[in-house]
Amino acid sequence: MSLLRHLEKALLEKFIHLIAANTGLSVREQDRNGLARKILFRIKSLKLFSPESYYQLLASESNQSRQEWQELIVLLTTTESYFFRDRGQLNLLQKIILPELIQRQKATKTLKIWSAGCSTGEEPFSLAIILQEILPDLADWQISIWGTDINREALAKAEKGVYTSWSFRLVERKILQNYFHPISQGFQLKDEIRELVKFENLNLVTARFDSPNYNIYDLDLVLCRNVFIYFDKEAIATVLAKFHQTIKPGGYLLTGHAELYGQNLQNFQTKIYPESIVYQRSKQRSLLKSPSDRPVRERAKIIEKPPIRQSITPAPTTAKNLYSEAQTRFQQKAYTSAIAKAKQVLQLEPRNFRAYFLLAQIYANLGKYEQAIHYCHQAISIDSFAIETYQLLAKIAEEQGDIQTAKNLLKKIIYLDYRCISAYLELSHLYAREGDSKRAEKMEVAGKELLRELTNDSSFAEPG
Ligand SMILES: C[S@@+](CC[C@H](N)C(=O)[O-])C[C@H]1O[C@@H](n2cnc3c(N)ncnc32)[C@H](O)[C@@H]1O
Repeated sequence: MSLLRHLEKALLEKFIHLIAANTGLSVREQDRNGLARKILFRIKSLKLFSPESYYQLLASESNQSRQEWQELIVLLTTTESYFFRDRGQLNLLQKIILPELIQRQKATKTLKIWSAGCSTGEEPFSLAIILQEILPDLADWQISIWGTDINREALAKAEKGVYTSWSFRLVERKILQNYFHPISQGFQLKDEIRELVKFENLNLVTARFDSPNYNIYDLDLVLCRNVFIYFDKEAIATVLAKFHQTIKPGGYLLTGHAELYGQNLQNFQTKIYPESIVYQRSKQRSLLKSPSDRPVRERAKIIEKPPIRQSITPAPTTAKNLYSEAQTRFQQKAYTSAIAKAKQVLQLEPRNFRAYFLLAQIYANLGKYEQAIHYCHQAISIDSFAIETYQLLAKIAEEQGDIQTAKNLLKKIIYLDYRCISAYLELSHLYAREGDSKRAEKMEVAGKELLRELTNDSSFAEPG
């Protein structure tokens, strides 16, 4: 029986509007049943008699209501994050944006940076690590890095600075070595980096950023990545206008790829780099009041299509070019065209491992696990030793709650490459989840011993 039947359609609609107004989060058609389940779960936990009384509680202005929002937000938000997420954007920050800001700020030696929607802290800590790497006299600077999020549970994890191997899936060994201590629960971030970031509970839609509670203003750089994908268009526009006020003239905003598609960007200059688009607040305050006062050319800055760099001479249609286009589209989360391109690669080269694996990744990201598994198996039929395919299959099995299959796959990865530390640690995590602390500890010790052993081995590179 559909859960929606317990919750009248009209009332569910009211919940959806209330959630959007309070958090910006938009509930997609396919997620309505999931939302109904979450609401019914909260009603049961609070021992309330009806969905209507739960709605009244959320809509009221009371401490109990504020507390309940916190509980519900934990259920509504997606807090997926990892260190150095989107390597391209972080390279751009490390090589171009941050050096430019450092040069600009060298007289005052101050930098103000904000990771808005920072989840469990991997993003602001990645920025702090980059600054540590590129700013030799960092101790002489006054660096403020804020990490804010609406989800208090995520922030509590961020404050601890303890991460499991899953947060390091894209991290180079030297970063792990230089900035983390291995501990029994995973890896502890060193204090010198932790101290650079200040975490705050902040709702991007309702908060006044420069209020005495937060004091966030005159920023050099704002990162708000993988947050707007969950927002409705109106909420994005509201937050974008507030970011504009918070960023100093000439300061930068970075979002996830194509997250500002269809938004009015007239107050920002869009700078296009191969790795990403960056939005720069115009250097001078505008004298023009409304969008219609602006010259037509400037008004045209409302992005009509997701921005994609186009070369003047079209590249020849080779499998290599098509694959690289497919990968770019994948990174921009333009999944439909990424799939089309990857399939074109397969028409030219029916045994192209990378195209099959890319299709598997795309479908996994879309939550279409059956197709993802199908393409993983196609990839395996071409190269049965490539461990990334088994890593993806293990992750999917875990997502689907099939822990036994996930464990078997992780064991297979270790069999194929005994140096794959993340597989030991992930296996340890799964055993711990099942309450098998003996095996969990064994795997963890094996992973960490291996890490120590390989620390001095320069040929080592953690796969995946
Ligand atoms: C997928 S995570 C992104 C984390 C990080 N920026 C990254 O790219 O890895 C999205 C985060 O946005 C937060 N979020 C959602 N709505 C928000 C709001 N209205 N105000 C502040 N944070 C919000 C969620 O709690 C979640 O932690």
